[in-house]
Amino acid sequence: MSTANDSKPITVPGLADAKRDGRKLVMLTAYDTGFARVLDANGVDMVLVGDSLGMVVQGHGSTLPVTVDDITYHTRCVARGLSRALLLSDLPFQSDATPERALEASARFLQAGAGMVKLEGAGHKLDAIRFLVEREIPVCAHLGLTPQSVLRFGGYKVQGREAIAAKKLREDAQAVADAGASLLVLECVPSSLAAAITAAIPIPTIGIGAGADCDGQVLVLHDLLGLDSGHRRPKFVKDFLAEGGSVAGAVRAFADAVRDGSFPDAEHAYA
Ligand code: KIV
Repeated sequence: MSTANDSKPITVPGLADAKRDGRKLVMLTAYDTGFARVLDANGVDMVLVGDSLGMVVQGHGSTLPVTVDDITYHTRCVARGLSRALLLSDLPFQSDATPERALEASARFLQAGAGMVKLEGAGHKLDAIRFLVEREIPVCAHLGLTPQSVLRFGGYKVQGREAIAAKKLREDAQAVADAGASLLVLECVPSSLAAAITAAIPIPTIGIGAGADCDGQVLVLHDLLGLDSGHRRPKFVKDFLAEGGSVAGAVRAFADAVRDGSFPDAEHAYA
């Protein structure tokens, strides 16, 4: 899994193997076939059809307007471009409000080509995680700055800085793993907290603004390519196009930097 020349498809059990063997996992978002092809050929292990598409493709101010139909359509497009990478699809706002709704949407994503679904939060979402996993749908959880909670958070802010919030995040991380999630995205949390969670739970963590000690890293493709999406650029974003020289070079530079541990550095993480 750790070399771009290894053309064996990435599987869900392979993610656990990577954590056990200390091999970093590389994830990027994509929304269409052309970019999916480039990612697949340049060392990316997992491609996420994120609901970030609401902000970087559709031009909305948040991810809340994204629908199950939108994610299904883009999942189909991305699936056509992949032969090696594992495809994940995001359950958009309220599509996971009940386990039954989550199952209905997830089944559509898997039938469109996804190999795993991602959902934000713990709490009542633990029922949805268990419900999906019992029905053979692999789940990636997402904690920390969960963009679907932007109204409650009052903006896109670093999470888990205070002791109580950090304790809750550690408990939630353990809970999603216990519920059967295979993977956990940690977004915008202090690096030390992400490192502690990564060491404590048995499933791989994928960081975005969560420091270098996560088991892997993800970025939004448009951020990696330095595209101005019209939103404030978070601290953790790095323009890899500048050093990569081409789209393929940027993807390769990101994958290499994740694997050799040079990204994210302190400049692209939160203390
Ligand atoms: O929607 C998305 O692209 C995401 C990633 C930023 C992890 O959730």
